[in-house]
Amino acid sequence: MSGLISLTPEQFTMFQQFIYRHTGIWTLDGKTALLSNRIRRRLRDRGLESFDEYYKLLSAGSLAGELESFIDAITTNETYFFRTSEHFDWFAGPFLDDVIARAAAGRRERSLRVWSAACSSGEEPYSLAICLAENAPRLAGWTLKVVGTDICETALQTARTATYGPKALEHVSPERLARHFVADTATKDTWRLKPAVAGLCEFRRHNLLEPMAGQKFDCIFIRNVLIYFDRTSKPIALRHLIDSLQGGGCLVAGSTDGAHDFLDGLERRSNFVYQKP
Ligand SMILES: C[S@@+](CC[C@H](N)C(=O)[O-])C[C@H]1O[C@@H](n2cnc3c(N)ncnc32)[C@H](O)[C@@H]1O
Repeated sequence: MSGLISLTPEQFTMFQQFIYRHTGIWTLDGKTALLSNRIRRRLRDRGLESFDEYYKLLSAGSLAGELESFIDAITTNETYFFRTSEHFDWFAGPFLDDVIARAAAGRRERSLRVWSAACSSGEEPYSLAICLAENAPRLAGWTLKVVGTDICETALQTARTATYGPKALEHVSPERLARHFVADTATKDTWRLKPAVAGLCEFRRHNLLEPMAGQKFDCIFIRNVLIYFDRTSKPIALRHLIDSLQGGGCLVAGSTDGAHDFLDGLERRSNFVYQKP
């Protein structure tokens, strides 16, 4: 790989557009060093010498499984348990109060489906599942499901292990840690979620640019991902999410995601909750 330092402006544009077409992520001009580093790892894994050669094989689909590996390499997967705690306080408090009251009045089924869209390695869906587990007495007899989806298969593999280190768990109180996790004896400093919580979650690969198949959801969390989208890909993703929301269901958007301009048809309930009428 001699002489291979950084993407040229032409190569940067070529990969920028390729990433955009496949994910909706718009890599900002000026991120050349970051993108070069991430792609260089793929070249190394494939034993290739040049960005052009890699692009040719990638875009022609000539390398089995490479599109998935490429997307894994270019996504930013940072996340942790109870990120932006007020979103989870709302979910465990006013949101559950309302659905439980409506079920008690016979105005809805005793079932709850929650979607953590772009869930990365699972900390967000598992935080939601912890909220549900902590409300188990008042949800007795309910059918509960938290679906976590992401485009990044490596992140989903971590999610399925339900095992986390200290950084992911930084905002988990010692009480919660003791109640919902067991220390992993095989490794130092890692904790595994107990089945009562882990069993509420399932994980699937899904691209936000595509519609979500299957049943609709009562609540959708979409946080810290649309920030990477632009004014064209953002409304496409949001339209699919809104289509997957039950009537009366709520969408929770991250404060940096810039979703509010594209939420036609939803009613704003707070600075992060939008409800489908
Ligand atoms: C920074 S993480 C956010 C994780 C979590 N929602 C949170 O707020 O902590 C962003 C995630 O979005 C995923 N992502 C990016 N583009 C996507 C797309 N088109 N479809 C599905 N997931 C995508 C990435 O793989 C990454 O795991």
